[in-house]
Amino acid sequence: MKTERTETIVILSQREIEKMRRAGQLAAKLLQYLEPLVKPGVTTLQLNDAAERWTKAHGAKSAPLGYKGYPKSICTSVNEVICHGIPNAKQVLRDGDIINIDVTPILDGYHGDTSKTFIVGNASPKVKQLVEVTEECLRLGIAEVKPGAKIGDIGAAIQEYAESYGFSVVRDFVGHGISNIFHTAPDIPHYGIRGKGKRLRPGMVFTIEPMINEGTWEFEMLGDGWTAVTSDRKLSAQFEHTLAVTEDGVEILTLSA
Ligand code: MF3
Ligand code: CO
Ligand code: CO
Repeated sequence: MKTERTETIVILSQREIEKMRRAGQLAAKLLQYLEPLVKPGVTTLQLNDAAERWTKAHGAKSAPLGYKGYPKSICTSVNEVICHGIPNAKQVLRDGDIINIDVTPILDGYHGDTSKTFIVGNASPKVKQLVEVTEECLRLGIAEVKPGAKIGDIGAAIQEYAESYGFSVVRDFVGHGISNIFHTAPDIPHYGIRGKGKRLRPGMVFTIEPMINEGTWEFEMLGDGWTAVTSDRKLSAQFEHTLAVTEDGVEILTLSA
């Protein structure tokens, strides 16, 4: 999500982290359920409706639905869409497209926020490289997370790696604290300077969700007020996990276990 957050950073109890773990596992399972549905000919609305049914059947709610007026249950960001693409009956996936599916079920009051970029059918080596580099950016960002590290360490690791391939890092959308609230402090930029920013402490829970572009990092907002696209209409990829800072490092909460 966008902009500076000024609220204080909360430290979650073990009991709350257990709830985040359950919500996170459900989110990971939802992405696993959706993955085989991603094929040429499917519409993004079909993916949304499948996700909504599955979420309800598992006793959870879709956090995006109605969030600040967002109209659907998941985000489906295709090709030049950076994030918050809205599922649509007229949007048919085609061979060679890339699609980020971002899901956030709420289970027992807590949020599991995770996304992956999938390749539809066959893609060129260049497209595959963007997707692979973006996934590695998430991995490298997560590897920085431990008590005593600074928020800037995460962004620096991601930015260095993405830019070494000539790709750019989106500035206007960042990771975020998350708990029983969808988006809260702190902001987690995917660019930055080592040693800068707030110190990480055990019990902090936040997302890392780098959006990496083939061309410029600059974005434009489409008329629907949600869909963020690259200004040059080149491709953008994204991966996201929800994480907890532990006593000695990091726990990825959005794994299917
Ligand atoms: N899941 C997105 C994120 O990673 C937020 C989507 S907000 C919505 O922060 F309203 F667009 F769904
Ligand atoms: Co998020
Ligand atoms: Co998300």
